[in-house]
Amino acid sequence: MPILGLKAPGPSTPAHFSLEPLIRPNILALQPYRCARDDYSAGVLLDANENAIGPALPSASAKKVKVNGHSDSNGTSGASASAEDIALETLSLLPPGTDLNRYPSPTHDELKRRIAHLRGVPDENWVFLGVGSDEVIDMLFRVLCVPGKDRVLTTPPTYGMYKVTANVNDVGVLEVPLIAEGGKFQLDEDAMDEAFTANPDLKIVFICSPGNPTGTVIPLPAIRRVLENPKFKGVVLVDEAYIDFAPSNSSAAQLINEYANVCVTQTLSKSFGLAAIRLGYLLAPPPLIQILTNTKAPYNISVPTASIAASAVSDAGMAVMAEAVSTLNANRDYLLETLPTIPSIGDILGGNDANFVLVQVLDGPKGKVCNNRAVQVYKTMAETRGVVVRYRGGEIGCEGCLRITVGTRTECEEVIKQLKDLLA
Ligand SMILES: Cc1ncc(COP(=O)(O)O)c(C=O)c1O
Repeated sequence: MPILGLKAPGPSTPAHFSLEPLIRPNILALQPYRCARDDYSAGVLLDANENAIGPALPSASAKKVKVNGHSDSNGTSGASASAEDIALETLSLLPPGTDLNRYPSPTHDELKRRIAHLRGVPDENWVFLGVGSDEVIDMLFRVLCVPGKDRVLTTPPTYGMYKVTANVNDVGVLEVPLIAEGGKFQLDEDAMDEAFTANPDLKIVFICSPGNPTGTVIPLPAIRRVLENPKFKGVVLVDEAYIDFAPSNSSAAQLINEYANVCVTQTLSKSFGLAAIRLGYLLAPPPLIQILTNTKAPYNISVPTASIAASAVSDAGMAVMAEAVSTLNANRDYLLETLPTIPSIGDILGGNDANFVLVQVLDGPKGKVCNNRAVQVYKTMAETRGVVVRYRGGEIGCEGCLRITVGTRTECEEVIKQLKDLLA
């Protein structure tokens, strides 16, 4: 059965791959969504049961003042801001005349075009937008995996949501750990090859690059070898949530024009500093994008999210992002230089290609890696020192490890100070 609504074919390489047989039959049969406004979108709009009076926002009239530039806003945001302040600030970011009482575009083609241009795929037919990359990951499970039957492969230590989402969708997970020796965290290609031989029906292989919690980029030649392995008939998902912190040219997005069996998730939650708006996306050849488009909830991306995202991926927004990445990467260098000077801090593991570092806690100066002490440090820092990091010692190859997000320079200095103090 053909993919309904498909406008452009994708690459035909590799020869052993065919998407249609991988898609759940009920999903393959879905008609592309037609929204209320596909036929008529101008005039007196009484077709979609919206509220013609307007949004129930005390600040809606204030919005006009702000948008016209007469506001004396103090720019309040974060934990201390009231709901009213947050609403006002969000409204001020929207284009004047935005009708919040109307449903958003189901496609957001202009935003997709900008992302396509930015990430080097041909056009909007190669981009799918999700409520964070978490929604994209869930959607992939839903279109590809039959609950209670299918399985996917992950390469731990890795992002925990792959397993959570597999469990939610009643999908089995086969784990082939990364080669962790020496904190390298690279694909164990031989073990993956064996897994493909023993499990010819695997639907998705998850490759996190740079990895979380490893911070390590997986080189493109290794990803190519998985894509070209004829024993694996499924789809490779490369999760690039942290790609902008990595050396340039590390992104697997460049493989999408070439291979039909690869897709890449990215997000505005990290380098763009927009975790609150929940915007992630999948870059993939048009057939997979069309399947996801046919399946998604019609209006999954809100108007405020799409407007803010469009501003972030504009040329000016990209410049702001690049500046932030350069500051954070400099702060990462500060952590990498300073952490080893603290007694009882062991090796820094992984590639440090993301906005965090993974560091071992020892049981004493020049001692052994120690999970108990790492937990103790983690808890004491959070409960008595006001510094929250993440304990990762339970992950394969991460014994005794804390994962420390790179913050502002002041925050980095604070975590170093507290670690020095606690481990003294
Ligand atoms: C590897 C990885 N992928 C995806 C996500 C989720 O990103 P989003 O905020 O786009 O849902 C995270 C969040 O921490 C992550 O670490």
